[in-house]
Amino acid sequence: MNVLVTGSGGQLGTDIVPILLDTGFSITGLPSKALDITDEAKTLEAVLSVKPKVIINCAAYTAVDKAEIEKEKAFKVNRDGARNLAGAAKKAGAFIVHVSTDFVFDGLKATPYAETDVTHPLGVYGESKLAGEAAVQESGARYAIVRTSWLYGHTGNNFVKTIIRLATEKDSIRVVYDQTGSPTWTKELAKALKAFALAEAKGNSIEGIYHFSNEGVASWYDFAVMIIEEARLCGAPIKCGKVEPILTSGYPTPAKRPPYSVLDKEKIKKALGIAIPHWRASLGAMMTELYGGKRA
Ligand SMILES: NC(=O)c1ccc[n+]([C@@H]2O[C@H](COP(=O)([O-])OP(=O)(O)OC[C@H]3O[C@@H](n4cnc5c(N)ncnc54)[C@H](OP(=O)(O)O)[C@@H]3O)[C@@H](O)[C@H]2O)c1
Repeated sequence: MNVLVTGSGGQLGTDIVPILLDTGFSITGLPSKALDITDEAKTLEAVLSVKPKVIINCAAYTAVDKAEIEKEKAFKVNRDGARNLAGAAKKAGAFIVHVSTDFVFDGLKATPYAETDVTHPLGVYGESKLAGEAAVQESGARYAIVRTSWLYGHTGNNFVKTIIRLATEKDSIRVVYDQTGSPTWTKELAKALKAFALAEAKGNSIEGIYHFSNEGVASWYDFAVMIIEEARLCGAPIKCGKVEPILTSGYPTPAKRPPYSVLDKEKIKKALGIAIPHWRASLGAMMTELYGGKRA
């Protein structure tokens, strides 16, 4: 079975390609330089040439704050790109696994978000991703939309890498504690996406919207404290002795974030028969890898 991964140069895309290799499927990863999904003709051409049974879309415009001033660009990639890819999937008879975000919600709930909960994005990025979900659903292709949250991995810039850098440079840092979610390692998400490809190969019925994150709940402050603790255990030259919890109002950003974005994962666990590790276990595993297996 052929599997096509778009956006394979991003933090999720980089992790998913090697994870898919042990399936025995033929995997084609196309980074943005090889395939720009906003080019409808080239997208169709690439899909028809790879002849995938499954397409995993990791390509996205992910600059949450910049999106507030680059609305057109965000929609071009996240809505139009998704539409092009799903349209090509329909023509090729491929199943598309499309990655989306917790930012489709406003975060005003106090219990985990189910797939059926009402969406209400607070900013341009979330709006563009929600429009991408609609484009996939309207394409006529068979699809799974997988919403995830607070991603980090080895590639690219993310919260884990930012905190490690700040903690090696500064004596103290300030981190918001009134936004709650679930940090998610890209490798764990990649394993879940692989499970969709395996289920599709077996002919299982897996269409629909799903939520996936690591288990457990944290504030950005909790997450930062654990990142620093893990980095210390792994031998990083940590200078920071104080992590100060602050309110979101003390750290204004151009885009508003959902204050609560924990995702309910019952549906995906049941559909794919997967167990999901706690975010602290995954953070420990990622940090151990990052520091080459060293640990105190
Ligand atoms: N990061 C998070 O915290 C988070 C949270 C929830 C959901 N998500 C979702 O998870 C998915 C993966 O995110 P990520 O963190 O891996 O993002 P990422 O590191 O920014 O990767 C996105 C990739 O998409 C590529 N791309 C951008 N425009 C493209 C285009 N027109 N055609 C083809 N490729 C294009 C980028 O290439 P260039 O670098 O060359 O532009 C980049 O390699 C996305 O759908 C994102 O919305 C992310």
